[in-house]
Amino acid sequence: MTRTLELDGIAFGGDYNPEQWPREVWEEDVRLMRQAGVNFITVSVFSWPLLEPEEGCFDFGWLDDVVELLHGAGIAIDLATATATPPAWLVRKYPQILPVTADGTQLEFGSRQAYCFSSPIFRQYALRLTRAMAERYGKHPAVRLWHVSNEYGDHVSRCWCDTSAVHFRTWLRAKYTSIEALNDAWGTSCWGQHYLDFEAIEPPRESTGPINSTQRLDFERFSSDAMLELFTAEVDVLRDVTPDLPVTTNFMSILHELDYFAFADAEDIVTDDAYPDPADPGAHIDASLNYALMRGAKGGAPWLLLEQSASAVSWRDINVPKAPGVMRLDSYQALAHGAEGVMYFQWRAARFGPEKFHAAILGHRGEASRTFQECSMLGAELQQLGALKGSRVVADVAMLCNWDSKWALAAPDSLPTNRLSWIGQARDWHRASFTLGVTVDLVRAGADWSAYKVLLVPNLYLATPALAAQLDAYAAAGGTVVVGAFSGVVDENDHVHHGGAPGPLRPLLGVEVDEVWPLPAGESGQVRMDGDLHGVHTAGEWLDAVDARSVASYSGGELDGRPAVTVRQHGAGSAWYLSTCLEDAGLRELVHRIFLAADVTTRDGAGRDVEVVVRRNGDTSFTFVLNRSATSLDVSLPTGAAVLVGGSDAGQGAEGRCQLQARGVLVVQHGYDDSVHVVARSAQLQTV
Ligand code: GAL
Repeated sequence: MTRTLELDGIAFGGDYNPEQWPREVWEEDVRLMRQAGVNFITVSVFSWPLLEPEEGCFDFGWLDDVVELLHGAGIAIDLATATATPPAWLVRKYPQILPVTADGTQLEFGSRQAYCFSSPIFRQYALRLTRAMAERYGKHPAVRLWHVSNEYGDHVSRCWCDTSAVHFRTWLRAKYTSIEALNDAWGTSCWGQHYLDFEAIEPPRESTGPINSTQRLDFERFSSDAMLELFTAEVDVLRDVTPDLPVTTNFMSILHELDYFAFADAEDIVTDDAYPDPADPGAHIDASLNYALMRGAKGGAPWLLLEQSASAVSWRDINVPKAPGVMRLDSYQALAHGAEGVMYFQWRAARFGPEKFHAAILGHRGEASRTFQECSMLGAELQQLGALKGSRVVADVAMLCNWDSKWALAAPDSLPTNRLSWIGQARDWHRASFTLGVTVDLVRAGADWSAYKVLLVPNLYLATPALAAQLDAYAAAGGTVVVGAFSGVVDENDHVHHGGAPGPLRPLLGVEVDEVWPLPAGESGQVRMDGDLHGVHTAGEWLDAVDARSVASYSGGELDGRPAVTVRQHGAGSAWYLSTCLEDAGLRELVHRIFLAADVTTRDGAGRDVEVVVRRNGDTSFTFVLNRSATSLDVSLPTGAAVLVGGSDAGQGAEGRCQLQARGVLVVQHGYDDSVHVVARSAQLQTV
């Protein structure tokens, strides 16, 4: 059953914490929300202690009033189940629900999210509250979305307490059935780790030295599953009471610890909390990768940006504000990438607590605050963009994301280098595509990849025969697969494939890896590509191209002359292998060459500071041009195009052209085939 968010237009609003304010402020809040164009508000995320001040005694009076106030103002509600933080009375009655770290430290009450997600006691109380919330508010016309808990994995994503240990053993029994199977999978014959019984197994706590890497990997899988189990337990209660209301839990961009594909399967709408660092000039590039996951998690379906900051956050070492125009650019970036809502943490800036210096729509200065002015202008603009709804992002290129492989590659103490991570590689490869003006989707194993011309696989350390077969079939049917270094190394138990890397990917890639060759910290080597392209690499592999053509080789050093990049035809498609980590310029050149060969159109005028993304719905296209540079752009518009957003920053110039000012946003509606081009820059832009 598909449950969608029933809301007119683009969602615009944020987290509202009325419990931090006297009642007389609430009326003003709602008045200003209307003034700012707010139509959707999240409430009760951390309200458990107020809703259940004593065990079993619920007090919904204040929340009833808030719900009615918002409803009276025509504002719809994303209602939290309020289970993100247990109240003090629950923790004091059952201190065993507190989480424990790998070194045995029990974390104290005093912040938020202080519970072990495996605790049956926590679950029982959380489900009772969830049911009470669902029964009280599930039929209220203002309530349009359930917001379960808050950011699973924030603060606590792993717990090593005794309750977790019991849960872990139950999970292991279900997975392996027999202790012999576990001993085989974990390779316990190494270092005398053999187990006679499941009861003897503990979570991978601090130990004398490096811990069994399969035990660690299973603990990663278990911890993600355990949180998912808690989430689905709440979802089941909600579905029971309110079968038609959609459910979400807010993601934390590409979080390492949780398999978001599995979470997305359990919810109706994907929502993300995104906090790109204004001090990082490349943060928006990584944000674009995060958003690729948000739409990819449900096969391209619309998602919501549920939290962003109107300016600075409060939790970085230095919390740099967003310069004027940047919040607007960030918001449109999410919309460009398939979002149907732009929301903030939070509505009104707090006066106390750890987040009192976190920006909000309504700053401490009230209506006069810059954030309120900027957000209100955006709110008004978004009201004109309802036509965007239902359109989907157009992308010729996909990138494979696989949590199992990410976790396996993150095992400390047992890898040739601890500097290689999936996210690091993914960001590098994505940055190369971004600066070429190419939009990338993130996809999972088993999804339908047939619409993509190129599939990027920056790293697939853990490769199963089933996934290798899917990659094979994709290339055989005409796709271009690009696989990065240190892939196809281990199987699902983290055992090295017989014969070594690339294991089950060997028939596809036509190469054999003899040795992995990380360079000492601070050193780099050279790669020489055919046609005089050059790249600097930091780690490489002693590679033999047994059935592939080498298109680039190592130059100098121990790997001198050996293949660094290979390509081979595979059925109707092709398979590339990049056996090293290239720095930006070299990687961009290589990716460009691959895109050209695969007929993927790159965009002139793109670069680090200019992003162009297209959404489409039937015959109608919407092109977003986001100009983060300090100079203006000349943009050509197809005949009959309508400028939906541009306003003051995109005054129509000569016919079919417009000027997009520095830090400007342009959204153009046009036909299926024609396109919007950046034709000139008023000065040299900075590119990677
Ligand atoms: C999020 C969280 C919010 C708020 C915000 C501040 O992680 O969900 O409740 O704390 O960070 O940036």
